[in-house]
Amino acid sequence: MAEGTASGKIILFGEHAVVYGRPAVAVPVSNVQAVARLLADAPGRGLTIDAPDLGRTYDLATAPADDPLALIVRSTLEHFSLVDIPDAVLRVSSTIPLGRGLGSGAAISTAIVRAMSRFFHRPLSPEEISRLVYEVEKLHHGTPSGIDNTVIAYDQPVYFIKGKPIQRMGVGRPFTVVIGDTGIVAPTHRVVGDLRRRWQEAPDRYEGYFDEIAAIARQARVVIEQARVGLDMLGRLMNDNQELLETIGVSSPELERLVAAARRAGALGAKLSGAGWGGNMIALSPPEPGAAEAIAQALRQAGAAGVIITTVR
Ligand code: PMV
Repeated sequence: MAEGTASGKIILFGEHAVVYGRPAVAVPVSNVQAVARLLADAPGRGLTIDAPDLGRTYDLATAPADDPLALIVRSTLEHFSLVDIPDAVLRVSSTIPLGRGLGSGAAISTAIVRAMSRFFHRPLSPEEISRLVYEVEKLHHGTPSGIDNTVIAYDQPVYFIKGKPIQRMGVGRPFTVVIGDTGIVAPTHRVVGDLRRRWQEAPDRYEGYFDEIAAIARQARVVIEQARVGLDMLGRLMNDNQELLETIGVSSPELERLVAAARRAGALGAKLSGAGWGGNMIALSPPEPGAAEAIAQALRQAGAAGVIITTVR
């Protein structure tokens, strides 16, 4: 048996602008995980994909070309120059909520590639894993920036610019983020496509917003990397980023209700995370004991479908 796991992720700064070449900051969230297990099966059985969370069991041989699990298996086999389909069962499960900006698709693909890498004794670099996963991301997103596959395959905080070599980030002083789920699934490609139409109508205006978001992401990187700069500043940057996300039309009343509740409960800053319209928001907790739990409680009372407290280090 070979096992591969992968963490979820959140985007701290720069979502959407990252699609237009601006920098973004993302970190893994190890509280939620995708797991893939590959078990050898009797000869002649081929490869069975078993995804109990999705209520599906099916054969690789007959899976359609656009099935995301089949696609990552096929492209990994191809990467290993393996022509014959192995006799095995691939069991996939995940605690990462689907379609809420926590990178569930990229994490499931990454877990599968890691399991296959162990099963076939073919070590892969994070760069190779990221590239394989990116191909599947295109299926989900259309024009993905590549930030999800990068942060999840490298499994560490990243400062990401589309098409540029990855810049790993150090975290000067660990900080705690509370993640609140609106419970609303909003397909990333729709939010991205809708924004693209607005950008096409007023490119100068939107390029200006993206530049402002880029300046925030750049400052945030400095604050995160240098322990001597305060968390208050990081919180203010989150609030500024949220304001711009509202301006470009990717926020929603549900997200804003959770953002307001988190701020009232003492969060130093709060914003949506990921594509928006639904999905998750994030709030920066003060370091005092109990502060994160108080924010989590306020989010639940404001109607959050799920809350995760995670420490970025
Ligand atoms: O997958 P999500 O929901 O975290 O959204 C990705 C972030 C976007 O910047 C909106 C899109 C992208 O490809 O970077």
